[in-house]
Amino acid sequence: MAKTPAAARDAAALAPFPTRRSWAEPWKVKVVEPLRMTTRKAREKANIDAGFNTFLLRSADVYIDLLTDSGTSAMSDGQWAGMMLGDEAYAGSRNFYNLEATIQKYYGYTYVVPTHQGRGAENLISQILVKPGMYVPGNMYFTTTRLHQELAGGTFVDVIVKEAHDPAADLPFKGNVDLDAFAALIRKVGAKKIPYITIGATVNMAGGQPISMANIKAVHALAKTHGIKVILDATRAVENAWFIQQREPGYARKSVATILREFCGYSDGCTMSGKKDALVNIGGWLAVNDRDVYEEASNLVVVYEGLHTYGGMAGRDMEAMARGIVESVQDDHMRARIGQVQYLGQKLIDWGVPIVRPVGGHAVYLDAKAFYPQLTQDQFPAQTLAAELYEDSGVRAMERGVVSAGRDAKTGKHRYPKLELVRLTIPRRVYTQAHMDVTAESVLAVWQQRARVRGLTMVYEPKYLRFFQARFERL
Ligand code: F0G
Repeated sequence: MAKTPAAARDAAALAPFPTRRSWAEPWKVKVVEPLRMTTRKAREKANIDAGFNTFLLRSADVYIDLLTDSGTSAMSDGQWAGMMLGDEAYAGSRNFYNLEATIQKYYGYTYVVPTHQGRGAENLISQILVKPGMYVPGNMYFTTTRLHQELAGGTFVDVIVKEAHDPAADLPFKGNVDLDAFAALIRKVGAKKIPYITIGATVNMAGGQPISMANIKAVHALAKTHGIKVILDATRAVENAWFIQQREPGYARKSVATILREFCGYSDGCTMSGKKDALVNIGGWLAVNDRDVYEEASNLVVVYEGLHTYGGMAGRDMEAMARGIVESVQDDHMRARIGQVQYLGQKLIDWGVPIVRPVGGHAVYLDAKAFYPQLTQDQFPAQTLAAELYEDSGVRAMERGVVSAGRDAKTGKHRYPKLELVRLTIPRRVYTQAHMDVTAESVLAVWQQRARVRGLTMVYEPKYLRFFQARFERL
Protein backbone atom coordinates (compact mmCIF):
# COMPACT_ATOMS: atom_id res chain seq x y z
CA MET A 1 0.00 0.00 0.00
CA ALA A 2 1.36 3.41 -1.01
CA LYS A 3 1.94 5.74 1.92
CA THR A 4 0.11 9.07 2.01
CA PRO A 5 2.34 12.06 2.86
CA ALA A 6 0.72 12.24 6.34
CA ALA A 7 1.41 8.57 7.04
CA ALA A 8 4.99 9.02 5.86
CA ARG A 9 5.33 11.98 8.20
CA ASP A 10 3.97 9.93 11.09
CA ALA A 11 6.33 7.08 10.31
CA ALA A 12 9.27 9.48 10.20
CA ALA A 13 8.25 11.01 13.53
CA LEU A 14 8.06 7.56 15.10
CA ALA A 15 11.30 6.30 13.59
CA PRO A 16 13.53 6.92 16.64
CA PHE A 17 10.99 5.07 18.82
CA PRO A 18 10.47 1.69 17.18
CA THR A 19 8.44 0.22 20.04
CA ARG A 20 7.04 3.11 22.09
CA ARG A 21 7.27 6.86 22.18
CA SER A 22 7.93 7.65 25.83
CA TRP A 23 9.14 5.95 28.95
CA ALA A 24 5.56 5.50 30.17
CA GLU A 25 5.03 2.52 32.42
CA PRO A 26 4.16 -0.93 31.06
CA TRP A 27 1.62 -1.44 33.87
CA LYS A 28 -1.43 0.17 35.48
CA VAL A 29 -2.34 0.65 39.12
CA LYS A 30 -4.59 -1.86 40.91
CA VAL A 31 -4.10 -1.07 44.60
CA VAL A 32 -3.19 2.26 46.20
CA GLU A 33 -1.58 3.07 49.52
CA PRO A 34 -2.72 6.41 51.02
CA LEU A 35 -0.06 8.96 51.96
CA ARG A 36 -0.33 11.53 54.72
CA MET A 37 0.28 15.17 53.94
CA THR A 38 1.98 17.03 56.81
CA THR A 39 2.52 20.67 57.74
CA ARG A 40 5.88 22.44 57.84
CA LYS A 41 5.44 22.92 61.59
CA ALA A 42 4.98 19.17 62.11
CA ARG A 43 8.01 18.45 59.93
CA GLU A 44 10.18 20.87 61.91
CA LYS A 45 9.34 18.91 65.06
CA ALA A 46 9.84 15.57 63.33
CA ASN A 47 13.30 16.70 62.16
CA ILE A 48 14.32 17.57 65.74
CA ASP A 49 12.89 14.31 67.13
CA ALA A 50 14.81 12.38 64.45
CA GLY A 51 18.11 14.13 65.23
CA PHE A 52 18.17 15.52 61.67
CA ASN A 53 18.74 12.01 60.36
CA THR A 54 16.22 10.90 57.75
CA PHE A 55 16.78 7.27 58.79
CA LEU A 56 15.25 8.12 62.16
CA LEU A 57 12.05 9.69 60.79
CA ARG A 58 8.85 7.69 61.07
CA SER A 59 7.57 6.76 57.65
CA ALA A 60 4.10 8.00 58.68
CA ASP A 61 5.62 11.50 58.78
CA VAL A 62 6.97 11.22 55.22
CA TYR A 63 5.07 12.25 52.09
CA ILE A 64 7.25 11.04 49.19
CA ASP A 65 9.77 8.50 50.41
CA LEU A 66 12.96 8.60 48.34
CA LEU A 67 15.22 7.32 51.12
CA THR A 68 16.04 4.19 49.19
CA ASP A 69 15.02 1.90 46.35
CA SER A 70 15.81 -1.04 48.65
CA GLY A 71 12.83 -3.22 49.45
CA THR A 72 10.49 -0.36 48.60
CA SER A 73 9.37 -1.38 45.12
CA ALA A 74 5.81 -2.43 44.25
CA MET A 75 5.24 -6.08 43.43
CA SER A 76 3.13 -7.15 40.46
CA ASP A 77 -0.10 -9.16 40.60
CA GLY A 78 1.96 -12.10 39.34
CA GLN A 79 4.35 -11.78 42.27
CA TRP A 80 1.51 -11.48 44.78
CA ALA A 81 -0.15 -14.55 43.26
CA GLY A 82 3.19 -16.33 43.69
CA MET A 83 3.14 -15.47 47.40
CA MET A 84 0.11 -17.78 47.73
CA LEU A 85 2.18 -20.60 46.31
CA GLY A 86 4.73 -20.39 49.12
CA ASP A 87 5.96 -23.85 50.07
CA GLU A 88 6.93 -23.24 53.68
CA ALA A 89 8.74 -26.53 54.19
CA TYR A 90 11.83 -26.13 56.37
CA ALA A 91 13.92 -28.04 53.86
CA GLY A 92 13.82 -28.32 50.08
CA SER A 93 11.00 -25.84 49.39
CA ARG A 94 9.90 -25.95 45.76
CA ASN A 95 10.19 -22.15 45.66
CA PHE A 96 13.92 -22.47 46.31
CA TYR A 97 14.37 -24.68 43.26
CA ASN A 98 12.38 -22.23 41.16
CA LEU A 99 14.55 -19.35 42.40
CA GLU A 100 17.74 -21.33 41.80
CA ALA A 101 16.69 -22.21 38.24
CA THR A 102 15.73 -18.58 37.54
CA ILE A 103 19.11 -17.29 38.76
CA GLN A 104 20.93 -19.94 36.74
CA LYS A 105 18.97 -18.96 33.64
CA TYR A 106 19.22 -15.16 33.82
CA TYR A 107 22.49 -14.60 35.72
CA GLY A 108 24.21 -17.80 34.64
CA TYR A 109 25.91 -18.93 37.87
CA THR A 110 26.05 -22.59 38.84
CA TYR A 111 25.40 -22.56 42.59
CA VAL A 112 22.98 -20.42 44.61
CA VAL A 113 22.81 -19.80 48.36
CA PRO A 114 19.81 -17.70 49.46
CA THR A 115 20.29 -15.08 52.21
CA HIS A 116 17.97 -12.69 54.03
CA GLN A 117 19.36 -9.75 52.02
CA GLY A 118 22.52 -8.55 50.29
CA ARG A 119 24.71 -8.07 53.35
CA GLY A 120 24.06 -11.68 54.37
CA ALA A 121 25.73 -12.76 51.11
CA GLU A 122 28.54 -10.22 51.67
CA ASN A 123 29.19 -11.73 55.10
CA LEU A 124 29.47 -15.24 53.64
CA ILE A 125 31.83 -14.42 50.78
CA SER A 126 34.03 -12.16 52.96
CA GLN A 127 34.36 -14.80 55.66
CA ILE A 128 35.21 -17.49 53.11
CA LEU A 129 37.69 -15.63 50.90
CA VAL A 130 39.17 -12.73 52.90
CA LYS A 131 41.93 -13.50 55.43
CA PRO A 132 43.57 -10.99 57.80
CA GLY A 133 46.12 -8.82 55.98
CA MET A 134 44.49 -9.21 52.57
CA TYR A 135 43.36 -6.43 50.20
CA VAL A 136 40.06 -6.24 48.33
CA PRO A 137 40.00 -3.78 45.44
CA GLY A 138 36.69 -2.49 44.10
CA ASN A 139 35.11 0.18 41.92
CA MET A 140 34.30 2.46 44.86
CA TYR A 141 33.22 1.23 48.26
CA PHE A 142 29.73 0.31 49.32
CA THR A 143 29.01 0.72 53.04
CA THR A 144 28.01 -2.84 54.02
CA THR A 145 30.28 -4.54 51.48
CA ARG A 146 33.40 -2.79 52.75
CA LEU A 147 32.48 -3.33 56.39
CA HIS A 148 32.21 -7.10 55.90
CA GLN A 149 35.58 -7.11 54.13
CA GLU A 150 37.07 -5.18 57.06
CA LEU A 151 35.44 -7.40 59.69
CA ALA A 152 37.12 -10.37 57.97
CA GLY A 153 40.50 -8.60 58.37
CA GLY A 154 40.79 -7.18 54.86
CA THR A 155 41.49 -3.67 53.59
CA PHE A 156 39.35 -2.19 50.83
CA VAL A 157 41.20 -0.37 48.03
CA ASP A 158 39.27 1.92 45.68
CA VAL A 159 40.27 1.36 42.03
CA ILE A 160 37.44 3.19 40.28
CA VAL A 161 38.30 5.65 37.47
CA LYS A 162 39.08 9.06 38.92
CA GLU A 163 36.26 10.78 36.97
CA ALA A 164 33.82 8.89 39.23
CA HIS A 165 34.75 11.31 42.02
CA ASP A 166 33.82 14.34 39.91
CA PRO A 167 30.05 15.06 39.91
CA ALA A 168 30.34 17.18 36.77
CA ALA A 169 32.26 14.70 34.57
CA ASP A 170 29.56 13.71 32.07
CA LEU A 171 30.81 10.31 30.86
CA PRO A 172 28.87 7.19 29.87
CA PHE A 173 30.65 4.66 32.12
CA LYS A 174 31.82 6.40 35.28
CA GLY A 175 31.63 3.07 37.14
CA ASN A 176 34.62 1.64 35.26
CA VAL A 177 37.64 0.21 36.99
CA ASP A 178 40.95 2.03 36.50
CA LEU A 179 42.91 -0.94 35.16
CA ASP A 180 46.25 0.75 35.88
CA ALA A 181 45.26 1.23 39.52
CA PHE A 182 44.22 -2.44 39.76
CA ALA A 183 47.51 -3.55 38.15
CA ALA A 184 49.49 -1.25 40.46
CA LEU A 185 47.85 -2.79 43.52
CA ILE A 186 48.73 -6.29 42.29
CA ARG A 187 52.36 -5.19 41.83
CA LYS A 188 52.45 -3.53 45.23
CA VAL A 189 50.93 -6.19 47.52
CA GLY A 190 51.15 -9.31 45.33
CA ALA A 191 48.30 -11.32 43.83
CA LYS A 192 48.34 -13.81 46.73
CA LYS A 193 47.08 -11.07 49.02
CA ILE A 194 44.13 -10.22 46.73
CA PRO A 195 41.43 -12.89 46.98
CA TYR A 196 39.03 -11.08 44.67
CA ILE A 197 38.00 -7.76 43.21
CA THR A 198 34.46 -6.51 43.95
CA ILE A 199 32.67 -5.07 40.93
CA GLY A 200 29.67 -2.91 41.69
CA ALA A 201 27.21 -2.60 38.80
CA THR A 202 25.88 0.03 38.86
CA VAL A 203 28.05 1.94 41.34
CA ASN A 204 25.73 3.22 44.05
CA MET A 205 28.11 5.63 45.82
CA ALA A 206 29.24 7.19 42.52
CA GLY A 207 25.68 8.14 41.62
CA GLY A 208 24.30 4.91 40.18
CA GLN A 209 26.88 4.96 37.38
CA PRO A 210 27.34 1.93 35.11
CA ILE A 211 30.43 -0.05 34.16
CA SER A 212 30.92 -1.04 30.52
CA MET A 213 31.09 -4.56 29.13
CA ALA A 214 34.54 -3.80 27.69
CA ASN A 215 35.78 -2.78 31.13
CA ILE A 216 34.51 -5.80 33.08
CA LYS A 217 35.92 -8.01 30.33
CA ALA A 218 39.34 -6.40 30.75
CA VAL A 219 39.12 -6.60 34.56
CA HIS A 220 38.29 -10.29 34.29
CA ALA A 221 41.22 -10.93 31.92
CA LEU A 222 43.69 -9.13 34.20
CA ALA A 223 42.34 -10.84 37.32
CA LYS A 224 42.55 -14.28 35.67
CA THR A 225 46.20 -13.93 34.73
CA HIS A 226 46.91 -13.43 38.45
CA GLY A 227 44.50 -16.03 39.84
CA ILE A 228 42.28 -13.34 41.38
CA LYS A 229 38.52 -13.90 41.45
CA VAL A 230 35.96 -11.36 40.23
CA ILE A 231 32.95 -11.08 42.56
CA LEU A 232 30.14 -8.99 41.19
CA ASP A 233 27.82 -6.97 43.38
CA ALA A 234 24.84 -7.72 41.15
CA THR A 235 22.38 -5.64 43.17
CA ARG A 236 21.57 -3.36 40.22
CA ALA A 237 23.22 -5.33 37.40
CA VAL A 238 20.02 -5.37 35.32
CA GLU A 239 20.00 -1.57 35.38
CA ASN A 240 23.67 -1.69 34.40
CA ALA A 241 22.76 -3.96 31.45
CA TRP A 242 20.23 -1.39 30.28
CA PHE A 243 22.92 1.33 30.21
CA ILE A 244 25.18 -0.97 28.17
CA GLN A 245 22.33 -1.44 25.70
CA GLN A 246 21.82 2.32 25.48
CA ARG A 247 25.45 3.48 25.44
CA GLU A 248 27.95 0.82 24.40
CA PRO A 249 28.65 0.21 20.70
CA GLY A 250 27.46 -3.22 19.57
CA TYR A 251 24.74 -3.68 22.20
CA ALA A 252 21.83 -1.56 20.93
CA ARG A 253 20.08 -4.56 19.40
CA LYS A 254 20.68 -7.00 22.24
CA SER A 255 18.08 -7.51 24.95
CA VAL A 256 18.75 -6.53 28.55
CA ALA A 257 18.49 -10.24 29.46
CA THR A 258 21.15 -11.23 26.90
CA ILE A 259 23.48 -8.44 28.04
CA LEU A 260 23.04 -9.37 31.72
CA ARG A 261 24.02 -12.98 31.03
CA GLU A 262 27.13 -11.94 29.10
CA PHE A 263 28.10 -9.43 31.80
CA CYS A 264 27.85 -11.95 34.65
CA GLY A 265 29.97 -14.32 32.55
CA TYR A 266 32.98 -12.10 33.33
CA SER A 267 32.71 -12.87 37.03
CA ASP A 268 33.18 -15.91 39.26
CA GLY A 269 30.19 -15.22 41.44
CA CYS A 270 28.04 -12.49 42.88
CA THR A 271 26.43 -11.12 45.98
CA MET A 272 22.91 -9.86 45.47
CA SER A 273 20.40 -7.73 47.29
CA GLY A 274 17.10 -8.86 45.78
CA LYS A 275 15.51 -5.76 47.29
CA LYS A 276 16.52 -3.64 44.29
CA ASP A 277 16.49 -5.02 40.70
CA ALA A 278 14.54 -8.14 41.68
CA LEU A 279 11.46 -6.18 42.78
CA VAL A 280 10.91 -7.71 46.21
CA ASN A 281 10.71 -6.31 49.72
CA ILE A 282 13.23 -8.71 51.25
CA GLY A 283 15.76 -11.32 50.15
CA GLY A 284 19.15 -11.84 48.57
CA TRP A 285 21.62 -14.47 47.51
CA LEU A 286 25.19 -15.50 46.94
CA ALA A 287 25.91 -17.27 43.66
CA VAL A 288 29.21 -18.86 42.64
CA ASN A 289 30.65 -21.18 40.03
CA ASP A 290 33.32 -22.72 42.26
CA ARG A 291 32.18 -25.94 43.95
CA ASP A 292 34.46 -25.55 47.00
CA VAL A 293 33.34 -21.99 47.69
CA TYR A 294 29.74 -23.12 47.35
CA GLU A 295 30.22 -25.95 49.82
CA GLU A 296 31.69 -23.61 52.41
CA ALA A 297 28.95 -21.04 51.83
CA SER A 298 26.13 -23.55 52.05
CA ASN A 299 27.57 -24.70 55.38
CA LEU A 300 28.25 -21.21 56.77
CA VAL A 301 24.77 -19.97 55.81
CA VAL A 302 23.31 -22.40 58.34
CA VAL A 303 25.11 -20.47 61.10
CA TYR A 304 24.01 -16.95 60.12
CA GLU A 305 20.85 -17.16 58.02
CA GLY A 306 19.09 -20.53 57.90
CA LEU A 307 19.21 -23.81 56.01
CA HIS A 308 20.80 -23.55 52.54
CA THR A 309 17.42 -23.98 50.83
CA TYR A 310 15.89 -20.89 52.44
CA GLY A 311 18.72 -18.79 53.94
CA GLY A 312 16.51 -16.42 55.88
CA MET A 313 13.64 -16.14 53.42
CA ALA A 314 10.15 -17.62 53.58
CA GLY A 315 9.17 -19.84 50.67
CA ARG A 316 6.71 -17.21 49.46
CA ASP A 317 9.46 -14.58 49.40
CA MET A 318 11.67 -16.82 47.25
CA GLU A 319 8.75 -17.30 44.84
CA ALA A 320 8.13 -13.55 44.61
CA MET A 321 11.83 -12.99 43.93
CA ALA A 322 11.98 -15.65 41.21
CA ARG A 323 9.07 -13.96 39.47
CA GLY A 324 10.54 -10.50 40.10
CA ILE A 325 13.77 -11.48 38.36
CA VAL A 326 11.87 -12.45 35.21
CA GLU A 327 9.98 -9.12 35.27
CA SER A 328 13.14 -7.13 35.97
CA VAL A 329 14.95 -8.17 32.77
CA GLN A 330 12.13 -7.06 30.43
CA ASP A 331 13.32 -4.18 28.25
CA ASP A 332 10.01 -2.30 28.62
CA HIS A 333 10.26 -2.44 32.40
CA MET A 334 13.80 -1.07 32.42
CA ARG A 335 13.01 1.67 29.93
CA ALA A 336 10.21 2.97 32.16
CA ARG A 337 12.12 2.48 35.40
CA ILE A 338 15.20 4.37 34.35
CA GLY A 339 13.13 6.74 32.20
CA GLN A 340 11.42 7.99 35.34
CA VAL A 341 14.76 8.62 37.08
CA GLN A 342 16.03 10.48 34.00
CA TYR A 343 12.85 12.56 33.90
CA LEU A 344 13.45 13.84 37.43
CA GLY A 345 17.14 14.43 36.78
CA GLN A 346 16.56 16.30 33.53
CA LYS A 347 14.11 18.64 35.21
CA LEU A 348 16.73 19.61 37.81
CA ILE A 349 19.43 19.98 35.14
CA ASP A 350 17.13 22.27 33.15
CA TRP A 351 16.61 24.42 36.26
CA GLY A 352 20.33 24.71 36.92
CA VAL A 353 20.35 22.65 40.13
CA PRO A 354 23.74 20.94 40.64
CA ILE A 355 23.41 17.15 40.41
CA VAL A 356 25.75 14.29 39.56
CA ARG A 357 26.06 13.96 35.79
CA PRO A 358 25.03 11.90 33.97
CA VAL A 359 21.87 10.86 35.82
CA GLY A 360 22.30 7.34 37.22
CA GLY A 361 20.07 4.30 37.20
CA HIS A 362 18.24 4.27 40.50
CA ALA A 363 18.54 7.79 41.83
CA VAL A 364 19.26 11.45 41.26
CA TYR A 365 22.15 12.70 43.42
CA LEU A 366 22.23 16.34 44.55
CA ASP A 367 25.69 17.87 44.88
CA ALA A 368 25.58 19.20 48.45
CA LYS A 369 29.01 20.85 48.23
CA ALA A 370 27.69 22.98 45.36
CA PHE A 371 24.52 23.78 47.34
CA TYR A 372 26.39 24.93 50.43
CA PRO A 373 29.88 26.25 49.67
CA GLN A 374 29.64 28.07 53.03
CA LEU A 375 29.86 24.75 54.91
CA THR A 376 32.94 22.59 55.54
CA GLN A 377 32.52 18.82 55.39
CA ASP A 378 32.68 18.80 59.21
CA GLN A 379 29.38 20.68 59.12
CA PHE A 380 27.80 17.84 57.14
CA PRO A 381 26.45 19.59 54.01
CA ALA A 382 24.61 16.54 52.64
CA GLN A 383 23.07 15.65 56.00
CA THR A 384 21.93 19.28 56.21
CA LEU A 385 20.48 19.29 52.71
CA ALA A 386 18.45 16.11 53.32
CA ALA A 387 16.99 17.69 56.47
CA GLU A 388 16.15 20.93 54.62
CA LEU A 389 14.38 19.01 51.86
CA TYR A 390 12.30 17.03 54.33
CA GLU A 391 11.31 20.20 56.14
CA ASP A 392 10.30 21.90 52.91
CA SER A 393 7.99 19.22 51.53
CA GLY A 394 8.07 15.92 53.41
CA VAL A 395 10.27 14.37 50.69
CA ARG A 396 12.71 12.00 52.39
CA ALA A 397 16.16 11.56 50.84
CA MET A 398 19.44 10.03 52.08
CA GLU A 399 22.87 11.44 52.90
CA ARG A 400 25.73 9.95 50.87
CA GLY A 401 28.72 11.96 52.02
CA VAL A 402 31.03 12.22 55.00
CA VAL A 403 28.54 10.63 57.41
CA SER A 404 28.09 7.56 55.17
CA ALA A 405 31.85 7.32 54.59
CA GLY A 406 32.45 6.82 58.34
CA ARG A 407 35.82 6.75 60.05
CA ASP A 408 39.07 5.25 58.81
CA ALA A 409 39.44 1.80 60.40
CA LYS A 410 43.11 2.49 61.31
CA THR A 411 43.31 6.19 62.21
CA GLY A 412 39.77 6.64 63.58
CA LYS A 413 39.49 9.95 61.70
CA HIS A 414 36.55 10.97 59.47
CA ARG A 415 36.95 9.82 55.90
CA TYR A 416 36.36 12.86 53.69
CA PRO A 417 34.90 11.60 50.38
CA LYS A 418 35.13 13.93 47.38
CA LEU A 419 31.46 13.30 46.76
CA GLU A 420 29.14 14.92 49.29
CA LEU A 421 25.74 13.92 47.95
CA VAL A 422 22.07 13.64 48.76
CA ARG A 423 20.37 10.74 47.04
CA LEU A 424 16.80 10.99 45.75
CA THR A 425 16.24 7.29 45.29
CA ILE A 426 13.32 6.16 43.19
CA PRO A 427 11.49 2.98 44.24
CA ARG A 428 10.37 0.87 41.28
CA ARG A 429 6.75 1.11 40.10
CA VAL A 430 5.69 3.19 43.12
CA TYR A 431 5.50 6.93 42.40
CA THR A 432 3.94 8.90 39.56
CA GLN A 433 5.27 11.60 37.28
CA ALA A 434 3.41 14.17 39.42
CA HIS A 435 5.31 12.93 42.48
CA MET A 436 8.52 13.54 40.54
CA ASP A 437 7.32 17.08 39.75
CA VAL A 438 6.58 17.79 43.43
CA THR A 439 10.02 16.49 44.33
CA ALA A 440 11.76 18.63 41.73
CA GLU A 441 9.84 21.73 42.83
CA SER A 442 10.86 21.16 46.44
CA VAL A 443 14.52 20.70 45.50
CA LEU A 444 14.32 23.98 43.59
CA ALA A 445 12.84 25.78 46.61
CA VAL A 446 15.65 24.46 48.83
CA TRP A 447 18.23 25.44 46.20
CA GLN A 448 16.85 28.99 46.12
CA GLN A 449 17.18 29.27 49.91
CA ARG A 450 20.70 27.80 50.05
CA ALA A 451 22.49 30.98 51.18
CA ARG A 452 20.77 31.17 54.59
CA VAL A 453 21.62 27.61 55.61
CA ARG A 454 23.99 26.75 58.46
CA GLY A 455 25.22 23.22 59.06
CA LEU A 456 24.82 20.51 61.67
CA THR A 457 26.90 19.09 64.50
CA MET A 458 26.95 15.38 65.35
CA VAL A 459 25.78 14.72 68.91
CA TYR A 460 25.60 10.90 68.84
CA GLU A 461 27.69 8.50 66.77
CA PRO A 462 27.27 4.71 66.79
CA LYS A 463 30.22 2.38 66.17
CA TYR A 464 29.13 0.66 62.95
CA LEU A 465 27.56 2.20 59.82
CA ARG A 466 26.98 5.45 61.67
CA PHE A 467 24.79 7.05 58.99
CA PHE A 468 21.89 4.80 59.98
CA GLN A 469 21.65 5.96 63.59
CA ALA A 470 23.78 9.08 64.17
CA ARG A 471 22.01 12.15 65.64
CA PHE A 472 22.62 15.81 64.88
CA GLU A 473 21.69 19.29 66.05
CA ARG A 474 21.54 22.55 64.12
CA LEU A 475 24.55 24.82 64.47
N1 F0G B 1 25.32 -3.52 47.50
C1 F0G B 1 24.76 -2.40 47.04
C2 F0G B 1 25.30 -1.76 45.80
C3 F0G B 1 23.67 -1.83 47.71
O1 F0G B 1 23.13 -0.72 47.25
C4 F0G B 1 23.20 -2.46 48.90
C5 F0G B 1 22.12 -1.87 49.66
C6 F0G B 1 23.82 -3.63 49.34
C7 F0G B 1 24.89 -4.13 48.61
C8 F0G B 1 23.39 -4.33 50.59
O2 F0G B 1 22.18 -4.97 50.39
O3 F0G B 1 20.62 -3.80 51.95
O4 F0G B 1 20.04 -6.01 50.95
O5 F0G B 1 21.79 -5.86 52.69
N2 F0G B 1 21.75 -0.68 49.49
C9 F0G B 1 20.65 0.00 50.14
C10 F0G B 1 20.59 1.42 49.64
C11 F0G B 1 20.64 -0.12 51.62
O6 F0G B 1 19.76 2.17 50.16
O7 F0G B 1 21.35 1.77 48.74
P1 F0G B 1 21.10 -5.15 51.57
